Amino acid sequence: MTVTVAQARQSLLEKTRASQKISQDRAELLNSGLAANLEMPHPIFIDRGEGAFVFDADGNRYIDTSVGFGLHMLGHVHPEIEAAIHARTKLGWMFGIHSTSQMKLANLIQQGSPCAERVVFCNTGSEATMYAFRAARGFSGKEKIALFDGFYHGAHDYGMWLTDPNSPRGAPDSLPMGHGIPAVLKELTLLLPYRDAAAFDLIRKHKDELALVFVEGVQSSNPQPQAGAFLRELAQVCAENGVLFGIDEVITGFRIAFGGAQERFEVVPDIATYGKVIGGGLAVGAITGRADVMNVFTGLAADRGIFSGGTFSGNPLTMEAGAAAVGYLHTHPQVYDVLEQQGNKLAAAVNHFCQQHQIPAQMKNVGSMFHMFFQREQINNMRDVTAAHQGAEKAFYLHCLDRGVLVPGTQRAFLSAAHGDDEVQQLIDVFSQSLKDVQAEGLFDPAGSAV
Ligand SMILES: Cc1ncc(COP(=O)(O)O)c(C=O)c1O
Repeated sequence: MTVTVAQARQSLLEKTRASQKISQDRAELLNSGLAANLEMPHPIFIDRGEGAFVFDADGNRYIDTSVGFGLHMLGHVHPEIEAAIHARTKLGWMFGIHSTSQMKLANLIQQGSPCAERVVFCNTGSEATMYAFRAARGFSGKEKIALFDGFYHGAHDYGMWLTDPNSPRGAPDSLPMGHGIPAVLKELTLLLPYRDAAAFDLIRKHKDELALVFVEGVQSSNPQPQAGAFLRELAQVCAENGVLFGIDEVITGFRIAFGGAQERFEVVPDIATYGKVIGGGLAVGAITGRADVMNVFTGLAADRGIFSGGTFSGNPLTMEAGAAAVGYLHTHPQVYDVLEQQGNKLAAAVNHFCQQHQIPAQMKNVGSMFHMFFQREQINNMRDVTAAHQGAEKAFYLHCLDRGVLVPGTQRAFLSAAHGDDEVQQLIDVFSQSLKDVQAEGLFDPAGSAV
């Protein structure tokens, strides 16, 4: 039976009264809209997680495809991570100075980060990329950082740039992402076209100003399984032109392979950044890299030394949770094979359904990370993404949530090892039925443009 988007929204409103009450009681206190892609008057508040599922304030169960914005490779409340956290709490969980817990995780990260001659811990992925930029500037004595259109490297001012849609494809110009970003910082950023040979010429042209060329292992806004050839050529062009090359593995690290994008695509950068998976669910960041570059972290007195620090950096609770998660992945490499198969099965089934029913939508995936796009046209880089079916897209996510599938507001979605055959089949069914409902309501028009 076809469900309209109005019916789906009404059904959701009725079953999420507790979330609504939390939101209404203290709407002015919490300002963030968690369900940003949903046209709902209130966000859904999550109460607890278990394996592949989360449960909201009303007790509704959802298959979770956010998994903490990609960090729970093993699902919620994995027993080995839980045990590691408990064990640490009995011994004290925060000392500030170095603790015995750090080496375990540092050793594991070194094994899964081919460029890691050194490891530095911090607290978030944003902090890691901020430090990577500073380290590259300190080491090279140059100031410009090259980033790629469609990137996300965290919330600090140096990474808050969007592509100006009116700028040329081969030489994108940047616009600040929102207010509050100092205009002078634009001078320190060079935006490059992703998966486009014009990027290589721009690197050659700006080599004397460029401290670092920095790219996601796989763009989370555009998960392209064939990202490797471009990464390898980038590494080569950077080396030839005396520019440091960095890979942001905050999402891809320990997710798309134990060795992240570096292992999967056989490319070794000068510096790499981590977060998410390596904290076992607690706040974390890390920078790894070549010893001579990473030596800038050894203190202000070091040759080209930079400042780095942070009260919570390398705290023992995170280190133990991270070591349990990464240690488990290290001893269970089959997790990667299973996740790869499940991700490919999901995308193949959804894409087949779209083709069969002439639905202008597609799913892109690299193993267990996936993203729906609401267009038929091929996507090479973010410049190819259209907003033609935005209404259909919003309706789709609402239907999914009503059917018990939570896709994060960022639309970057993931499977975890806790998503078994049943959950993957349910995802296929819910995505297919929801696309069908959106189509039946006429929210995609036959010519492929907005209605
Ligand atoms: C590639 C990438 N880099 C950096 C970050 C920032 O990490 P955090 O949210 O931990 O600050 C993210 C967050 O999603 C990311 O996807």
